[in-house]
Amino acid sequence: SLDVSTLTKQTGLTALDYGFVNTAATKSRITYIDGDQGILRYRGYPIDQLASNSTYLEVAWLLIHGELPTADELADFDERVRRHTLLHEDLKHFFSALPHTAHPMSVLSSALSALSTYYENGLDPKDPEHVEMTTIRLLAKLPVIAAYAHKKSQGQAFLYPDNNLSFVDNFLRLNFGNMAEDYEVNPVLSKALERLLILHEDHEQNASTSTVRLVGSTGANLYASISAGINALSGPLHGGANEAVLEMLGQIQESGEGVRRFVERVKNKEDGVKLMGFGHRVYKNYDPRARIVKESANAVLDSLGISDPLLDVAQELEQIALEDDYFKERRLYPNVDFYTGVIYKAMGFPTRMFTVLFAIGRLPGWIAHWREMSLDPQTKIGRPQQLYIGEGERQYPQR
Ligand code: ACO
Repeated sequence: SLDVSTLTKQTGLTALDYGFVNTAATKSRITYIDGDQGILRYRGYPIDQLASNSTYLEVAWLLIHGELPTADELADFDERVRRHTLLHEDLKHFFSALPHTAHPMSVLSSALSALSTYYENGLDPKDPEHVEMTTIRLLAKLPVIAAYAHKKSQGQAFLYPDNNLSFVDNFLRLNFGNMAEDYEVNPVLSKALERLLILHEDHEQNASTSTVRLVGSTGANLYASISAGINALSGPLHGGANEAVLEMLGQIQESGEGVRRFVERVKNKEDGVKLMGFGHRVYKNYDPRARIVKESANAVLDSLGISDPLLDVAQELEQIALEDDYFKERRLYPNVDFYTGVIYKAMGFPTRMFTVLFAIGRLPGWIAHWREMSLDPQTKIGRPQQLYIGEGERQYPQR
């Protein structure tokens, strides 16, 4: 690989690389992907081993610190996150100012910016204690904000966190519990959600993580950087794809056009229609996360006794696409988002919460990358070049 910045200085040449397909913006020790072989490792550990054996917070520690925590380190980390779940009471008024129709991703990013205003003496990106405290606050409070965005959309009262519960169980209760009765966590749902969150925790220089790093490279604090990452994630070509997949499956089912006809429309690029949840910039093989999610989808639906026709539509779509030359030639396979929506729906989350769940999953990766970026002496403000193709100098007309 070339060090383009040195080459550019020496030769005066500029590389034009739409979508940064061939441009590395940084070195990183956090996540390894081999897109041809379908390999994903966090800090060297294969994703399937982490998804089977670990917890969300343990993997968060691993991503941020580079090693698995000892039992004491994990207990302390877990305890600190639990102690910071409460939101300032005044911040709850923020939710009242928004319509109940607000998209929860917009609520999430704006509430995070609002949250930073409560900690203005603790935002210095160069102060390790501030960064550590912000890391804990973000991990603790983002799920609470997310659950309140959900409750707000349903017109239901916000619950206070129950810090005797684990991270995931607390989140489930905040979303599905109510003031009138005790909430009993379903261990199958809890395990499945923990696993999905782990699968989403990092994915190296994807659009939202690159956004977090770019914003952070200006010296902006963690809240500002992660709020920007949430906005980048909201697009349907990125995290918003999980919501788009379920909408697509629903439309195929309701329209009665049939899966084969839909696939033909995709292949003919009619109205730019895509098979959402398929394809990936890096994976040119089956996304290793999609394999695990697919297993979980079957397990969760079986254990809840739900039979969702949308899962059948998804499986039929996958089967047809995997055997079709259009998808084979372009090496398009299901990505992590293809089956997640079916599981989230079975859990009871409304479609508009799906990308919010992705954001909670991705938060530790964003933090790990922001911290790596801010400690790297080679970090410079991110500032791409352009090739100007507009007008030459013109004279303003005399009128
Ligand atoms: N359905 C149909 N055709 C597709 C799809 C798809 N999902 N994805 C790519 N293609 C086609 C393109 O039209 C293009 O065809 P062409 O050679 O005839 O022009 C070819 O495959 C290459 O695609 P690109 O758009 O160049 O690939 P790129 O790497 O830029 O895009 C992306 C990757 C954005 C993920 C794309 O595959 C896509 O839009 N997928 C659907 C949305 C989605 O699921 N996003 C989630 C990504 S994973 C994540 O963020 C968690």
